[in-house]
Amino acid sequence: MKFSFSPWAGLFCATVFLTSGCVNLIDPLGPIGKGPEPRPPVAKPQLKEKFAWGFSTSSYQYEDPAVKPGEADYFQTDWDIFADEGKVPPKGNALYSWTHFDKDLEALKKSGVTHYRFSIEWARVEPKPGVYNEAAIRGYAAMARKLKEAGIEPVVCLWHFTFPAWLYDKKNPGQSNWLHPTVRERWNVYVEKMVKATAPYTKYYAPQNEPNGQITTAYLVGQWPPGMDLAFGHYWKAIDASTGMFRDAAARIKKIKPSALVVSVEALPWWERAPLDPGGLIYNTMIHGNVDHLDRIYDVCDILGINYYYSQAPGPLSLLAEPYRHGPNFTMMGWTINPDGLYKEIQRVAKRYGKPMMITENGIATKDDKKRIWYIQNHLAAIGRAIRDGYDVRGYFSWSLADNYEWHYGYEAKFGLSHMNPETYVREPKPSMGWFKDIIRGHRTVGSVPSIQPSTDE
Ligand code: BGC
Repeated sequence: MKFSFSPWAGLFCATVFLTSGCVNLIDPLGPIGKGPEPRPPVAKPQLKEKFAWGFSTSSYQYEDPAVKPGEADYFQTDWDIFADEGKVPPKGNALYSWTHFDKDLEALKKSGVTHYRFSIEWARVEPKPGVYNEAAIRGYAAMARKLKEAGIEPVVCLWHFTFPAWLYDKKNPGQSNWLHPTVRERWNVYVEKMVKATAPYTKYYAPQNEPNGQITTAYLVGQWPPGMDLAFGHYWKAIDASTGMFRDAAARIKKIKPSALVVSVEALPWWERAPLDPGGLIYNTMIHGNVDHLDRIYDVCDILGINYYYSQAPGPLSLLAEPYRHGPNFTMMGWTINPDGLYKEIQRVAKRYGKPMMITENGIATKDDKKRIWYIQNHLAAIGRAIRDGYDVRGYFSWSLADNYEWHYGYEAKFGLSHMNPETYVREPKPSMGWFKDIIRGHRTVGSVPSIQPSTDE
């Protein structure tokens, strides 16, 4: 996920206006601080056989709804409403992963991964407030069971960006989703049900995927539901609500299954200061985006998940230029490729929080599969360097198994190591899939993956 540039242009103009003559750093969200009290450094990593190799996916980006209006279990999410309003591209049936999960499973088995992160669509499970779809609950439990039976450790994510439509109040966006009056109560019931159903087969739970990025995009950038611009007050309320809900979920997970591991999953790009960022406003806002959520939940996590895709100097010029950037150092969306940023991010997370880490997402949108191999290999090399330097990184999850629905980019962005055959639904591997399989087989500790030179110029 990535913020688009246009609202920032507005933000920039407003900032120039507000800051003319002002020399202080501008930080509308307040000082970031040093973070939590430093904790004792974690023990040297014991990786070897235990390194997790996985793919990450999400329900909304992969599943077909498989219900029609008027049917008892019909559900909608806030994204469906946004799409109906023409604010984001419609997703249709995506990769049919609800009715054809076997196709994902088949591809996963062939890939050699040891772990698989998928998410549960809350709206499918609870199509109306307090009304549960028992078949859906059993369906998600069956996914976890089938993975486990195939020797693949499920990593169950309880929320990946989408809310049931009944939490989305179009007329009152400020009381929607995280800020809906009933959200926490409903969330806790949903979490308990899903953890109880999946616990027999599941060791890893990620309560939320990138709540930090979603909250920034929803309340400051205005691009995602509920679509609010520069709503700094709502940003903080959403951080409070989501971290409270994360902590509730972590407590329930541990109560239901004390041996389970709670994984945070946050969007952690590497930010640099840009020359034309007046008062450092954009930089400060972005750094807030990295830590505001994690600062409040890291202590209830066993593993901190880093979703890392790019680095950026978030000034107005670079943001405006993004769609026009092409070449070996950029993805097809203009994101800056910077494996060293991942190394630095690992360092920063380790120093700030002192906990074991996993790279819970990393990947590239490109039509050039050689470039994908180059991208992944160099990011693996950065992880290997971090591990050799003593940082406790325990896994790498590629985004993603197959080309999928990429939020406001629709189906244009090709992140998959395979793509779906539209007739058979088979996930047909790209060369990068075979390459990844060889890496998994041959380099279980990542440490020996070398970095390589760019091979292509997209
Ligand atoms: C999100 C995914 C998304 C990926 C690529 C992450 O921010 O968790 O849903 O597809 O980035 O943009």
